[in-house]
Amino acid sequence: VRRPLIAGNWKMNLLRAEARQLTRGVVAGAGRVPRDRDLLLLPPFTLLDAVGGELGSSGVRLGAQDLHWESAGAYTSGVSGPMLRDLGCEFVLVGHSERRTHFGDTGAALHRKLRAALSAGLRPIYCVGESLEEREAGRTWVVLRTQCDEVLRGLAPQAMAGLTLAYEPVWAIGTGRTATPEVAQEAHAFLRGSIAREWGDSVASEVRLLYGGSVTPESAAGLLDRPDIDGALVGGASLRAESFLGIAGAGASA
Ligand code: PGA
Repeated sequence: VRRPLIAGNWKMNLLRAEARQLTRGVVAGAGRVPRDRDLLLLPPFTLLDAVGGELGSSGVRLGAQDLHWESAGAYTSGVSGPMLRDLGCEFVLVGHSERRTHFGDTGAALHRKLRAALSAGLRPIYCVGESLEEREAGRTWVVLRTQCDEVLRGLAPQAMAGLTLAYEPVWAIGTGRTATPEVAQEAHAFLRGSIAREWGDSVASEVRLLYGGSVTPESAAGLLDRPDIDGALVGGASLRAESFLGIAGAGASA
């Protein structure tokens, strides 16, 4: 059984005092989220220490938004996997579309980042997703397949089974235009099927698949209800404790 994961990607937002306040709000409400769901905060590097301190032993997990592919060295401004582990991170995003678009992260670089995350003992959340142009041109499956092939190739079954994938259609990120549960489920089923072909059914059944792109407390229940949607990667709505917790608790019976 895959444990749902609700992750808040804060992107390049908040100063320390604001981050502490938001974290306290999430921790205070985390008890109302069903116990079978994991919560994760992904603040910018500058806030990891402060947020980690507030999280304490609350059970809410900590992760980063990116990492360097080397563990140390002459890479001015780089932040490595061991540095993230040292700050208490358990997870790290790899390949967010904003990294691909604004920072030029290529498939080859992301492959190295994913490997670096695994060798540092971090749990990568690898993000894939097509642009509007690609969807309209009927290229969605080709794009998703390529993004997976370039970065996940050669991964051992055990590493693959522990991986989290986030399907984030670029046209839905920050646009207020959430994919319908049907559209998201179709893509998730495609991704799980592709993983099954490469790594086998049992690995595919363990991989956690998150949906991301304008998720709100209102849209979350319908998405989380789908068989292949195992959680959400939340951007804008994760900057307020109330809406993040609303998503985390959405559609749960308990
Ligand atoms: P959004 O961002 O929820 O603001 O659309 C999602 C993401 O980019 O992870």
